Amino acid sequence: MLVQELDQVERDTLVRAAILAPSTHNTQPWRFRFRRRSVEVHRDPRRELGAEDPEGRMTLIGVGAAVLNLRVAAASLGAHTMILLMPDPQRPTLAAQVSVGPRGNGNGDGGDGGSLGALYPFLSRRRTNGQPTAHRGIPGDVRDDLSRATACEGARLEWIDDRDRVRWLRELATDAGTGIAEADDPRQLVERQVWVGGRRTNEGVPSTALGPRSGSPPGPVRDLGVDPGDRLGDTAKLEAEPNLAVLSTSRDTPHDWLTTGQALQRLLLSATIHGVAASLLNEPTGHADLGWLVRDPKSGWTEPQVVLRFGYGPELPPTPLRPVEEFILDEHADDPTQPPGW
Ligand SMILES: Cc1cc2nc3c(=O)[nH]c(=O)nc-3n(C[C@H](O)[C@H](O)[C@H](O)COP(=O)(O)O)c2cc1C
Repeated sequence: MLVQELDQVERDTLVRAAILAPSTHNTQPWRFRFRRRSVEVHRDPRRELGAEDPEGRMTLIGVGAAVLNLRVAAASLGAHTMILLMPDPQRPTLAAQVSVGPRGNGNGDGGDGGSLGALYPFLSRRRTNGQPTAHRGIPGDVRDDLSRATACEGARLEWIDDRDRVRWLRELATDAGTGIAEADDPRQLVERQVWVGGRRTNEGVPSTALGPRSGSPPGPVRDLGVDPGDRLGDTAKLEAEPNLAVLSTSRDTPHDWLTTGQALQRLLLSATIHGVAASLLNEPTGHADLGWLVRDPKSGWTEPQVVLRFGYGPELPPTPLRPVEEFILDEHADDPTQPPGW
């Protein structure tokens, strides 16, 4: 008999997994609607960063990560999935439709479900980890595994071994993070004040999750603190030669941002399996004037999307999350409306 609806266990498993995805400033900018055996994944326009992310690129990367989590959860139930990205131009908040096959009917997600399902236990253990890491390289087999995870999702991971390029990327990140963006647009500062710092119970980045400040010279972590307490926070010596990698796609469209999110999350979960800590050094790629400078001049194929820093660091507690009910859209309600300017 063909099962027509997702049952409650399936719905819970899927959405509880999806909301564990990373998002810029922990805005959690997604909502889900169940339609028969599909999950519609919507952007949540109330939670987008209009100043810092006017095109919605970072939002869609986060939403893509949530889509990957849905696929992982479906695979853990033994269900195949079929994904349509941006299936309906008339419904601009609808980022993806994830159709879920019957449960226990194979490995899930085409031929790839076995390895996707194996990521499920690591969803709740993944963290963005900006703490100092040990001065240790990432072994070749681990690097290969992370590169493979990225390639499975149609993106590319380039490890940066050239010291000059590492220094270049760090300098770009510092330039983008200190001054340039903020001076251009004070609205970004206000946005940061809304989402970053202080005590937080269910959204945003609490002071405790910011990690130490890197002091001088600036280290390979993003200094997001705007709250006076955070600006005076402890500094720590961060690794002078970080393990950096750039995740790229072949083009740079909203569709590619969703692909980036899926690739990013698959790689982050694979890193979690290997005990490798990861953080994002994403200022340059998010900055219109600097993004192209991240490109490897020798590489023909690249639209750099995310700069990552890897290492071996301490375990961290989870960042706060909203209650799961807040993410569910009523089956019969209208789509979330676009904010002005979209
Ligand atoms: C597209 C994107 C960009 C991000 N950029 C940064 C960044 O530049 N610096 C940083 O420290 N964290 C960055 N993050 C990580 C978020 O701050 C983090 O995912 C969020 O606080 C939730 O924490 P968690 O990843 O530990 O669950 C980014 C996340 C996403 C999805």
